[in-house]
Amino acid sequence: MNDPAEFCRQAIDHLRNDVPGTAILAASGGIDSTVAAVVATRALGTRVRCLFVDTGLLRQGEVDRVRTSLARVRVPVEVVSAADEFFSDLDGIAEPEEKRRRIGRRFIRVFEQEADRFGSDRLIQGTIAPDWIESGGSIRDTIKTHHNVGGIPADSRLTIVEPLRDLYKDEVRQLARFLDVPEPDRQPFPGPGLAVRVNGPVTPDRVRRARVANAIVEEEVEKAVAEGTLARPWQYFAVLLPVRTVGVIGDNRIYGEAVSVRIVESSDAMTAGAMAPGPELLRRIAERVTRELSGEIVRVLYDVTDKPPATIEWE
Ligand code: XMP
Repeated sequence: MNDPAEFCRQAIDHLRNDVPGTAILAASGGIDSTVAAVVATRALGTRVRCLFVDTGLLRQGEVDRVRTSLARVRVPVEVVSAADEFFSDLDGIAEPEEKRRRIGRRFIRVFEQEADRFGSDRLIQGTIAPDWIESGGSIRDTIKTHHNVGGIPADSRLTIVEPLRDLYKDEVRQLARFLDVPEPDRQPFPGPGLAVRVNGPVTPDRVRRARVANAIVEEEVEKAVAEGTLARPWQYFAVLLPVRTVGVIGDNRIYGEAVSVRIVESSDAMTAGAMAPGPELLRRIAERVTRELSGEIVRVLYDVTDKPPATIEWE
């Protein structure tokens, strides 16, 4: 993409061509789908209906944040609540690819239902190049089945439309700046949400712990960035580990869980480097996580692995 204005003109033309009737759009609050929503709304007006699915796997305050962010670019959004369905699909499932497949399938089912209500057979998504490359869409092995790529069944009655399919993240961010999308540098958050940050079984309780730990990491990292003691990372989050570990509070033994904190720098998510934040930041995170999840999380680790050999998310 050389010229954002030219890209937008062409994307609008293509969308008008590819969507003869009405479409629904899968909004996640991330930069990719927000840019897709702005372009699609400009192309199709009220012929597109933007949906945000509350999967129950979202971060703290996410529903409000997404409403505010889309309102600022004048994209009307509807929230579809489907937490019970997602949790029931994930019941007893610990294998990462199986989690991703089930989440992808449930998203499609929710979208099919909504498309039927709207009389539409097109689904617009903000898929970008690394999503399908790492989902095994080219000569590479499947690294991870992205929720918006691998979960779509061959017999789905929805035709997928992907206006940003050939772009990389830095290009989407350039487009976001051009379109006045707020926070163009916001960190990516995976579509399968906290399910891939809860290693092992996904239960509402384990997701709640991951949600609190993620909120603490975000707050403390953003504070450090604002104070100038840490360069803005590509991504920063916590992962709930599938281990039990012993701790102590006062005179009591606790058998709790552990989280691992990950703070990485990257330019396109295809490779990434583990950052080396100062010990004060890590201690503050550990102190808050073990205090605010007292009796539940007793140990906090820091992940020093680059991508490759590790991926950014743990699953
Ligand atoms: P990994 O963990 O494979 O992730 O190094 C690369 C980037 O993609 C994000 N990610 C996803 N984003 N749907 C998404 O929209 C997904 O299924 C998904 N899985 C990973 C991840 O957070 C990182 O930015």
